[in-house]
Amino acid sequence: MARISVFGIGYVGVVSAACLAKDGHQVIAVDVDPGKIKAINDGLSPIVENGLDELIAEVVAAGRLTATNDVQYAIDNTDASFIAVGTPSAEDGSVGLKYVRGVCENIGAALANKSSYHSVVVRSTIVPGSCEGTCIPALESKSGKVAGKDFGVGYYPEFLRESTAIEDYYDPGLIVFGAMDKPTADFLTALNDMLNCKIHVVDLRTAEMVKYTSNTWRAVKVTFANEIGNIAKSAGLDGQTVMEILCSDEKVAMSKYFMRPGFAFGGSCLPKDVRALRHLAATNGTPAHLLNAVIEANEAQIQRAESMIEASGAKKVGFVGISFKPGTDDLRESPLAELAARLIKNGVGVEIYDPYVFEAYANNNSTAGRGNDVIPDLKDRMVESLDQMINDNGAILVGNYYKGSIPSLQEAAKTRPVLDLTRMKRDMVSDGHYQGICW
Ligand SMILES: NC(=O)c1ccc[n+]([C@@H]2O[C@H](COP(=O)([O-])OP(=O)(O)OC[C@H]3O[C@@H](n4cnc5c(N)ncnc54)[C@H](O)[C@@H]3O)[C@@H](O)[C@H]2O)c1
Repeated sequence: MARISVFGIGYVGVVSAACLAKDGHQVIAVDVDPGKIKAINDGLSPIVENGLDELIAEVVAAGRLTATNDVQYAIDNTDASFIAVGTPSAEDGSVGLKYVRGVCENIGAALANKSSYHSVVVRSTIVPGSCEGTCIPALESKSGKVAGKDFGVGYYPEFLRESTAIEDYYDPGLIVFGAMDKPTADFLTALNDMLNCKIHVVDLRTAEMVKYTSNTWRAVKVTFANEIGNIAKSAGLDGQTVMEILCSDEKVAMSKYFMRPGFAFGGSCLPKDVRALRHLAATNGTPAHLLNAVIEANEAQIQRAESMIEASGAKKVGFVGISFKPGTDDLRESPLAELAARLIKNGVGVEIYDPYVFEAYANNNSTAGRGNDVIPDLKDRMVESLDQMINDNGAILVGNYYKGSIPSLQEAAKTRPVLDLTRMKRDMVSDGHYQGICW
């Protein structure tokens, strides 16, 4: 069992301190608020949370949880510290790191007087780069020691929800952490080992970003459901019924497939249907802020790809894929076709390798080039050989992934810009000639 100090006895700190003590760890809670310290030492919960009164009473009576404002005492008598102080918004909307910085300075000063190894694990919600830019410098400058060598550092975000916080602690939906050093990584892994949840071990910044992504995603879902509810009501319908039915579809509506960063959506359905629902909302006098933003953001993703090509300086670009997704020759509202059309208009040469569209033309299908209303000479721009197209062009734009295309494209990236909108290979990240649209 570990000896852990928890800095910040707020909603997060007090629940984790109590649960850690319940699990058999020896816990010291640290706060600057004397009322909270007294409450804990009296065996009382300083906050209202389901099941917490009983839990605190139990672990305090068992001698496994105490509270203090004495930082040096807490550091000297534990092997790891969790930081769970508040990070309220600053006036400009940025994350307020005042309390995190302050507590890191306090812990750093105490570490200066401690010879044994100690891990400092931040649990507060902080934007990517905060551990490296704020926490570590504060700890190092006050301790005179080196992070990752003389003491450990981790970032381990908390995902509990108030009102079900204890339940969430024992049955989490997500465990992720980053650690600078092996002892801290091993400590956090051991701490979570008994939970029935995959443990994701990543770098500090990725862990920081996952926390914001999780909260922002939930905020987007609430806003989306509200907007659908508003539009449904304006059409005389019950939005909750609509959303309940939607959420029953694990295969498409709730699919992870659409949660992969990449290029703009297109095709025969999504663009026209978002527009039509937005139009229905406007007709009924209901604002559709999120639908407006969806259309705007999708257009911006096409512009982003255009800027990548512009930045490459290439005057001839070979497109891998032109249909709206691989496996079809359907070109209706394909964002790749839109992108190609814009480049052509700006005088950039465009050649296209797309085996499905090519086949439709080769077979003289009456529907060949179906849905293309933006590239007048599409047929003439189609090429059969990927390797030939790579040789002919200054830059390659990978819009769709086709089986067997990766070796040639990887080879191409050694000699010319390869701009990838689909991530042909999971382990490829922007580097040199190879640039991914959002990786
Ligand atoms: N509340 C939630 O449901 C929740 C869930 C997940 C993550 N978070 C994140 O966790 C962090 C803490 O949130 P919270 O709601 O528990 O905050 P809170 O405001 O309830 O508690 C913060 C505590 O930190 C104490 N504190 C401030 N400076 C200190 C110092 N130098 N030393 C010791 N203690 C100090 C305060 O006195 C207070 O008791 C935030 O970053 C928040 O975004 C919150």
